This record gives sequence, C-alpha cells and structure tokens, in this order.
Amino acid sequence: MSIAYLNGVYQPLAEARISPLDRGFLFGDGIYEVIPYYAGRSVGLTPHIERMINGLAAIEIACKLSVSEWVELLDDLVARNSDQGKNIGVYVHVSRGTDVKRYHAYPDNVEPTIFAFAFPIKEPEPVDRAQAKPLSLVSTEDLRWQRCHIKSTALLGNVMHYQQGYAAGCDEALLFNAKGELTEGSSSNAFIVKDGKVITPIQDNQILPGITRRIILDSLRADGSIEVEERIVTMDEVLNADELWVTSSSKEIAPVTQLDGKPVGSGEIGDVWEKAFKIYSERKFDF
Ligand code: PDD
Repeated sequence: MSIAYLNGVYQPLAEARISPLDRGFLFGDGIYEVIPYYAGRSVGLTPHIERMINGLAAIEIACKLSVSEWVELLDDLVARNSDQGKNIGVYVHVSRGTDVKRYHAYPDNVEPTIFAFAFPIKEPEPVDRAQAKPLSLVSTEDLRWQRCHIKSTALLGNVMHYQQGYAAGCDEALLFNAKGELTEGSSSNAFIVKDGKVITPIQDNQILPGITRRIILDSLRADGSIEVEERIVTMDEVLNADELWVTSSSKEIAPVTQLDGKPVGSGEIGDVWEKAFKIYSERKFDF
C-alpha cells in the first residue's frame, strides 16, 4: 500500500486528508515536483529540490526545510514504499496552507501544507532504436500563462493541452507561442535534431527549466561527441527536423516519430536519439 507523507505524518495514501480551505485546493497555490528513483537511485534529486525551493521563494511560500532535510524526507518515503516495486516516482507538493476563509491575498501566519507520495514507475526504455517506443504528438498554440518557469500546481492550462493530444489518440501536445516558436510539451521539454546537432529552446519564462533537459545538456556537453545548442526554434525548423524528442522525469528522452499525423524526419527513431540516450543513461545517476 502506498504510504504518503502529510505534514509530518506518514500514513496510507488513501487515508491522507486536507482541508477544503487549503489554498492548494482552492487556488492551485503551490509548487510540486516529480522525482524518479530507479532501484533505489534517484535521478536529479538535488536539482529537483533546488527548483522546488526556488519556486517556493518565487511565490513567497515560507517553507523552511533545507535541501538535506528534503533529501532525508524523500529518501525515507521511498524506503517506506519498497513494496511499490523496484522503480518509484515521488510526487511532492507544497501548498501555501489552510486559511480560515477564501481570500486571494497571501495570508499571514499560515503553515504550508507538505504532501508527498510514492508510486510505481516503468523501467527505463532500452537504449536501442529497434526496441524503444516512439511517440506521436499533436501541435497547438501554447495558451498557458506567462510564468511557465514556475512549477506551479495550477496545471489547468497544461492539463487542457495534454487532453488535446490524448483526445487525438496521441502521447503529448507540442506547444508553439504566438510567434510560431517552439516552447515545450504540455508535460515535457522539447528538443530537435538537425544535421547531427541537438537544439532546444532557451530557458526563459515560456518553459519549465526541466531537470531532465538539464541532465541531457550537461551530459552531452561533458561527453562532447554531439553538438548542442540552446536557442529559439521555429515551427519551420520543427517541421523539417531530422528528429524530435520530448523529455521529462517520467519519459526520460522520448523519441517522437509522428507530429500531426505526419512523419518526423524519416519517420523512424533516429540514431542521434540512440547515442544521446546512451550518454544520458550512463550519467543520469550522477545528478
Ligand atoms: N512534468 N515541462 C513541463 C510543462 C512539465 O510538466 C515537465 C515535467 C517538464 C519536464 O521537467 P522534468 O525534466 O524536470 O521532469 C517540462 C512532470 C513530470 C509532471 O508534471 O508529471
């Protein structure tokens, strides 16, 4: 049974309760993270925690836990959920807390609600083009808000975009801003490959600073065999790319072979994906 952490208490997930006056429930007023653990080894644990601490500071939620206290709490939660399987994802969520009324302004003297639970995740995909599962995407205009760099629990914009892909029988929706520039996926970052070079949109307010994105960029730069670039990527470049990938803590690096029903590049998983995924897989536990 999944054991959850709620405000200092470990308890069965199905029994965890919060107040309907919690601002996470009323306003989506909180910050969250999703962190993978493969056979007990986390990927990007400290960067995930640092991003959460930055997000909490950005929305002025005073949560006093240090990085090492977070590591202890999350590792402890994973240990208590060993019956969930070998590979475990942790969802962690800090909301502004429970007020005595519904009122938009940030309340004083309210303690943040801290909630985390663990769930089984799938084995990493094999580092083999012939065996990996390719994704199909739809493209659409990015209609979310202008603070996509904050990993807010207010995900309605993302949920609506994800649903567009899901309703079309696809795995993800790929988002472009009003200028026709690539931003990211509804729940992932995006990369293209052109002439052997890996290119991804710059990290600004239009995208989440993905931990997987960062691990890929750092790993590829350290390895040196594949050129990488962070810059504006136009719709035209996406449509003429040799490869397209979406990345996240749950998808790792997912190759995309169809966009809006048309093949991406050759329509097969590309060789740069295989090389990059191998480099990433060899280094991911170092982060
Ligand atoms: N989503 N962009 C968006 C909008 C996301 O929601 C996510 C992750 C990412 C990738 O970030 P990271 O590599 O740090 O996981 C990019 C998570 C997994 C989710 O909401 O479930």
